[in-house]
Amino acid sequence: MITKCLFPVAGYGTRFLPATKAMPKEMLPIVDKPLVQYGVEEAVEAGLCEIGFVTGRGKRAIEDHFDTNYELEHQIQGSGKEVLLDGIRGLINRSTFSYTRQTSMKGLGHAILTGRTVIGDYPFGVVLADDLCFGDGIGVLEQMVNLYQRFKCSIVAIEEVPASETHKYGVIAGDAIEDGLYDITDMVEKPAPEEAPSNLAIIGRYILTPDIFDILESTPPGRGGEVQITDALKTQAKNGRVLAYKFKGRRFDCGGISGFVDATNYYYNRFFACEADDKIVSIKNSAK
Ligand code: UTP
Repeated sequence: MITKCLFPVAGYGTRFLPATKAMPKEMLPIVDKPLVQYGVEEAVEAGLCEIGFVTGRGKRAIEDHFDTNYELEHQIQGSGKEVLLDGIRGLINRSTFSYTRQTSMKGLGHAILTGRTVIGDYPFGVVLADDLCFGDGIGVLEQMVNLYQRFKCSIVAIEEVPASETHKYGVIAGDAIEDGLYDITDMVEKPAPEEAPSNLAIIGRYILTPDIFDILESTPPGRGGEVQITDALKTQAKNGRVLAYKFKGRRFDCGGISGFVDATNYYYNRFFACEADDKIVSIKNSAK
């Protein structure tokens, strides 16, 4: 059983400056919810209700979001607006939230290693909240948890990217073992198109077995002087097995402006457009 999920949220979000100067990029809203709430919803739907955050300076708003705001609750009590907090209240009731701090930004691998204190010796999920995933009926993390029950090893989510974009991702080489599932044989972090072993790029969803922590401890800084999770996973694959899973659904890179705008339009058109008017009407009718 996997019950824990780690959210590394310590990064500076420089691609979104100046919006992220004083606000965590994970709190940028897609229509009516901050990015990080979508990620936590996906984790909780997958049964991962023990949520751990690896935070940094300027990330207080995330802690406040997953807490009760008594003044606000009091203010809207009994009005139709209460319904707008149902989703976040449900998450707070169903989950626990722990926080630890990455004091220097030494990369995603280092952030995950920093999360060891909140994860312990258990398998766990990792969600990068700026990768917003809409599953195909079943959430992406739940699809991966189902695979973990069968294979009991680390699993990374992948998607096909154009050759011109391999330099933005960790890219895998692997042997297909079934449709959309690969046994990883190699991984390269942010390769130029001519150096990429495939066009299968790792996106921000992982299931990791806890031996990854010892591996990360002895993983030297790699590309960009940062401790890369890709390098640690490569070692894990050599020592045993790591799978790459072509998830069913859609992903948007909301860490950049065009992905963020695409996600906003997609979410609004698919899930919100018809609901929005009803929601507004019902709020207006019942507001005090
Ligand atoms: P990114 O490189 O996409 O995020 O890291 P960033 O650094 O915040 O964004 P830009 O590139 O400057 O715009 C992927 C994820 O890893 C986390 C980030 O918060 C993000 O969720 N991360 C990265 C850490 O928590 N610590 C780090 O040292 C590096």
